[in-house]
Amino acid sequence: MKKPFYVTTPIYYPSDNLHIGHTYCTVAADTIARFKRTMGYDVKFVTGTDEHGQKIQTVAQSKGMEPKEYVDGIVKNIKELWEKLEISYNGFRRTSDKDHAETVQKIFKKLYDQGDIYKSQYEGHYCTPCEAFWTESQLKDGKCPDCGREVQLAKEEAYFFKLSKYQDRLIKLLEENPEFLQPESRRNEMINNFLKPGLEDLCVTRSSFDWGIKVPFDEKHVIYVWIDALSSYISRIGYLQDDDSEFKKYWPADVHLVGKEIVRFHTIIWPALLMALGMDLPKKVFGHGWILFENDKMSKSKGNVIYPEPIIDLYGIDTLKYFLLREFTFGQDGSFSREKFLNRINSDLANDLGNLVSRTVAMISKYNDGIIPEPKEVGEYDEDLKTIATSTSDKVSKYIDKLDFSNALEEIWKLIRRTNKYIDETTPWILAKDESKKDRLDTVLYNLSESLRIVSVLIRPFMEKTSDSIWRQFGIEEGKGTLWEDLSEWNKLLSGIKVKKEGPMFPRLDVKKELQRLDEANDKLIESRKIVSKNEPEEDKKEVEEITIDDFDKLDLRVAEIVEAKKHPNADKLLIFKLKVGEEERQVVSGISKYYAPEELIGKKVILVANLKPIKLRGEKSHGMIMAAEKGDNLTLLSVLEDIESGAEVS
Ligand code: MSP
Repeated sequence: MKKPFYVTTPIYYPSDNLHIGHTYCTVAADTIARFKRTMGYDVKFVTGTDEHGQKIQTVAQSKGMEPKEYVDGIVKNIKELWEKLEISYNGFRRTSDKDHAETVQKIFKKLYDQGDIYKSQYEGHYCTPCEAFWTESQLKDGKCPDCGREVQLAKEEAYFFKLSKYQDRLIKLLEENPEFLQPESRRNEMINNFLKPGLEDLCVTRSSFDWGIKVPFDEKHVIYVWIDALSSYISRIGYLQDDDSEFKKYWPADVHLVGKEIVRFHTIIWPALLMALGMDLPKKVFGHGWILFENDKMSKSKGNVIYPEPIIDLYGIDTLKYFLLREFTFGQDGSFSREKFLNRINSDLANDLGNLVSRTVAMISKYNDGIIPEPKEVGEYDEDLKTIATSTSDKVSKYIDKLDFSNALEEIWKLIRRTNKYIDETTPWILAKDESKKDRLDTVLYNLSESLRIVSVLIRPFMEKTSDSIWRQFGIEEGKGTLWEDLSEWNKLLSGIKVKKEGPMFPRLDVKKELQRLDEANDKLIESRKIVSKNEPEEDKKEVEEITIDDFDKLDLRVAEIVEAKKHPNADKLLIFKLKVGEEERQVVSGISKYYAPEELIGKKVILVANLKPIKLRGEKSHGMIMAAEKGDNLTLLSVLEDIESGAEVS
């Protein structure tokens, strides 16, 4: 019988706007699932949507819709995106599913009956965007410590879970079982910032809105959305349901993959609930980092969101998956840049892998009538290639177990680069000139193909389409030399098969041209999504909040004179300005080329936010921000009524 393996992603808030940051976790989980399947495991891979809570109810209401009608409309977008990315999940949990509600109600009742949940009065703060309760002392400057937004006072009759009772067991769990929460840094954060200061009992119901799962014995309360959401990991596999065979087979989960900001829920609330239920705990929670854009958090309101669709449409899913998992260290934040993305396609995919495949197929076509020869005369370099090739799978699987995707790919690329070097060392084009070297040439061509067999299976969990292409070109069939155990063996590839040349797997890209195309495609999508959501409140729109004069004083606003203006070489939307601010000269990049030609602005005095941290915009330094007024499609720069010297303070 195959060994079970259970991997989950978080369940996503329904949205029609998942960006590449959201795809990161799902792509990683998909890769693990595929990898473990290749290794012969029976894999359960669950993802889903987190559909209840105050936030969703408010958005639905603002659209004049029932919450269920609203979520039904957008959950399909998420499924479509996963389909587009060929995510191989085999369990999808919608928290609005009936069997999920039944499980959650049974859990709640069980905990209530055994005294782990009790009724009391809640008085504290609630952050609706994060759906999180906070005590006065946990707030940061009176705001939500997670997202920095305003919190609301909540005072209502509520049920509480005895979280405090589990504090010591949770500390023990995290301290004595380093595998439970990875990476290490997140463990220290949980212990020192949350557990050691002391846990309070957790409010687990709300009664000021009703979009949620009802407390079975007190229907004016709905169950706290995080209790509801976390339970999805077990409800989807049948916990407390008539048919719980999957639960029996797959629980405890081997790994929950989650973003760093929700580690707290997964490593404090979730294990405490499971402890209360007397259940086994997940073997590992991995808190991955965020994908940022130009070192900033992606958000619709900042207009700096990178969507996966344009990348997939232009370059295929394999390039995106490869880049996400190769470029960034999974446990840490990473900054996405289109340049880095395009350069990696060129260097790793077009040069290293693409070239190896096309050179090998071309040489077999030219020197052996397209037939993969039998290996004959052994020579120098063969043993080294063979040793590296047959030891790679072991190294890769060790890295995958540590969720170190980047190094797992690096190991595969070491083999690819070694194989390319083998071509240079053995010089098949010279061997081909001498009939007496035919046996040696045959071995070289065979070894190259054999190395590609191993590469094609190893990259398969990351890039199935690319692997498929190699299989077609070398006539490799599933199950023949493609099993996990075949990867540590040599001479598994069938000779006598005719290669089939295909076009380049990754044509070399002209980075400058592609930057433009990619930018335009992303902008077009942002634009089209704006149109769809016009007049609708954005979920992550910054709330307009009151500030004090001290907050305002933090801004250094100055009059600045535009002395030079030109188009950004790599971005149509941007203009680059040289500004005179008193004695100082500054470069500022601004996205206003749609509204002004550069030459018409020279000599104009504008208002500059001068103490904004410098950033790079598409490779150009921008130090400060030129202020503008904007409404709909109109935009105009702010200026002064009468002339005044540049550098003058604005207050
Ligand atoms: N619904 C909760 C999860 C409940 S799990 C029981 C939630 N949903 S979410 O839609 O906001 O986020 C889903 C996942 O996307 C989270 O793991 C989050 O960290 C991840 N990401 C959102 N933006 C991200 C980046 N920019 N980069 C990487 N991951 C990011 O939280």
